[in-house]
Amino acid sequence: MNSVHWRPCIGIRPGAVVITLQIMAKSEVVVPLSNVNSPRDTLARPVRDLRISVMDRCNFRCPYCMPREKYHERYKFLNSHQRLSFDEIVRVSKLFVKLGVRKLRLTGGEPLLRTNLSDLIGDLTDIPSVEDVALTTNGVLLGRYAAELKAAGLKRITVSLDSLDPDIFARMSGGFGGLNDVLDGIEHARSAGLDPIKINAVIQRGVNDHTALDLVERFRGTGVIVRFIEYMDVGNRNEWTPDVVVPSRELMARISERWPLQPLGRDYRGEVAERYSFVDGKGEVGFISSVTQPFCGDCSRARLSSDGVVYTCLFANTGTSLRDLLRGGASDEQLLETIRNIWLGRSDRYSELRAELREKPGDHHKVEMFYIGG
Ligand SMILES: C[S@@+](CC[C@H](N)C(=O)[O-])C[C@H]1O[C@@H](n2cnc3c(N)ncnc32)[C@H](O)[C@@H]1O
Ligand code: SF4
Repeated sequence: MNSVHWRPCIGIRPGAVVITLQIMAKSEVVVPLSNVNSPRDTLARPVRDLRISVMDRCNFRCPYCMPREKYHERYKFLNSHQRLSFDEIVRVSKLFVKLGVRKLRLTGGEPLLRTNLSDLIGDLTDIPSVEDVALTTNGVLLGRYAAELKAAGLKRITVSLDSLDPDIFARMSGGFGGLNDVLDGIEHARSAGLDPIKINAVIQRGVNDHTALDLVERFRGTGVIVRFIEYMDVGNRNEWTPDVVVPSRELMARISERWPLQPLGRDYRGEVAERYSFVDGKGEVGFISSVTQPFCGDCSRARLSSDGVVYTCLFANTGTSLRDLLRGGASDEQLLETIRNIWLGRSDRYSELRAELREKPGDHHKVEMFYIGG
């Protein structure tokens, strides 16, 4: 618009709300309101965060995510043509950014199995208005890629690590990969300057809960932030039962008894982790309590599967594919309207309704986490 003066006013037309830009009180430019406002879902939640699964395959077989017996050598994962290309991921990300997304997280499956991932990081960090690009990895390949990811523009990283006990680690990763590779990956991330480094640990009663404090002890005072995740009933194949969940409150009490904690505020609305700092100043821990303290009310996350399906909840059973539209010549405008309508129709709040929904007869099929992106 260069130096042209304009002032907006809102006009209601039958069937459409429009903003009229009155330029120097002479000519009028009509801009649909849908272009300038970010949509709110049916519970008034905006879309701020897009989680992108870049790879459905994984080099681990964590029993709580991809149990080995179900994801064996003959399991049919997507082929490379079925997965969105980097160009397609960047295009969809830009459209989400137009609708209000400010944070992108790459995940999977194991994202570091995707060839040339740093190229994608570079493209995503270049998108104007993107404030944060993050990556969640099991860390086994991090030693090889940490410096390259940092050079491409990645600032921070989340590494999943459930236990420092080698036997429990092996059990919880399905017997693949090595604890030392993950620890080495964390060291490389630190040397590369990725900051903060966060550790995600899924805690299961009777499996690794007795080793949770070892993680705290190891990383306290190092700048690395450990976050404990309640074991969730994602997907249909992990045989979840509520008695294996260790409520965050219980874990927090155990940690606080040894190293007193004090609450910290959340960094931003919709942040999933409840943060606590050590009273002695040696850093912080986080708790992600999707089971015992659901945070659906603030959930502003959309998810894009590696084959281009948009899901509006981690526990969804259906999504909307953008891949055919992307490959069938749809314009940005058409794609934008599709995504907008998906968001406008969103009403998910599975975690708040978990008990009720699980008891209800009927279809309980949910999308799997490795496919949709954790
Ligand atoms: C699905 S993984 C994908 C990224 C990468 N492979 C990794 O493990 O970090 C993302 C996160 O989801 C967590 N996760 C997977 N299944 C889970 C479950 N049933 N309950 C809670 N967290 C789970 C993992 O521990 C990990 O931190
Ligand atoms: S949690 Fe991550 S590392 Fe473990 S099986 Fe799932 S995708 Fe792989």
